[in-house]
Amino acid sequence: MAPRALVTGSSGFVAGHIIRRLTTQGYEITGLDIASPRGDFNGNVREVTLDIRDRERVNTLIKEIRPELVFHIAAQASVPASMRDPRTDVETNALATLELAFNAAAAGSRRMIFISTGGALHGELPPQELPAKEASHVSPMSVYGASKAAAEIYLGVVTQQTDLEVSILRPSNIYGPGQNPNAEAGVIAIVTRAMLRDEPVTLFGDGNQRRDYVYIDDTVDAILLAAEGPPDICNISTGIEVSTARVFETIADLTGYKRPILIAEARPGDIQRISLEPTKAKRVWNWQPQTSFEDGVALTIDWFRKEEASETPVKS
Ligand SMILES: NC(=O)c1ccc[n+]([C@@H]2O[C@H](COP(=O)([O-])OP(=O)(O)OC[C@H]3O[C@@H](n4cnc5c(N)ncnc54)[C@H](O)[C@@H]3O)[C@@H](O)[C@H]2O)c1
Repeated sequence: MAPRALVTGSSGFVAGHIIRRLTTQGYEITGLDIASPRGDFNGNVREVTLDIRDRERVNTLIKEIRPELVFHIAAQASVPASMRDPRTDVETNALATLELAFNAAAAGSRRMIFISTGGALHGELPPQELPAKEASHVSPMSVYGASKAAAEIYLGVVTQQTDLEVSILRPSNIYGPGQNPNAEAGVIAIVTRAMLRDEPVTLFGDGNQRRDYVYIDDTVDAILLAAEGPPDICNISTGIEVSTARVFETIADLTGYKRPILIAEARPGDIQRISLEPTKAKRVWNWQPQTSFEDGVALTIDWFRKEEASETPVKS
């Protein structure tokens, strides 16, 4: 019989990629999202429109499908939104994660794979402590980071009290084809589409902010390895710091963008410098990033270029 998987966040960027990969492996998949279904998956995929915070209906769904694997990817994924509306963030990212895990355990699920965060977990670390390790001090600067940290701790309770195994991934900044260019975050998607459209682009701050960018296909590999390897907590990252100025320059070079880049005040709450050490994921799950920043950006630009040329480009 085909293995059954529940994938939350199925209308979003990362979960969409996971579902496409799982369909090639013969899974019977139920996707869950509060947003409209995509309706464009091939294979054995059923999409259910549901708020992850609706405990009763989520529990009914889990009891009905009895998934072996639960890929919990849905989240209130915006750092600024978590500051504007902390309650929604805590309910979605912490409380609903805890309840989902207890319900999955009760329905006999074997494992939950939880997408936490690496980039928003540690706050501003002293330079000598970068790249951050899994054991580095957890001190989130946002409600989003705190909710993910809380969810990790709650999941530790569930694994001690039930038979559910939990693998936790802490990705840095994920980017690639299919990322929403209309969101507040996801600088590579936002800048790529604006430059392809020859629209003005704004860099917030002096360009010296540094982040660790991990390509979506590498992230998908990690999530699938985490589903089968030992249950653990690992950074999913490159360990390499890329400045925001370099992000803009790379995309401008590859798209032939010639306009001057507009500069604006740094946004409050944006972290100055973060990178995450990926060697634990190599040791535990035999995962390591394969895609260089330049290659990943080029692949992303190719995808957005095709989207822009298609009759139904990503909505603006
Ligand atoms: N994109 C990144 O750089 C990054 C980095 C680290 C961690 N993450 C985490 O990875 C996961 C996926 O992120 P993404 O980039 O695909 O974000 P995304 O916003 O594209 O996807 C999140 C999905 O969750 C859904 N969702 C939100 N609230 C919901 C609710 N109450 N009930 C049901 N569905 C709900 C959204 O509709 C959306 O489709 C998230 O957990 C995010 O926190 C993302």
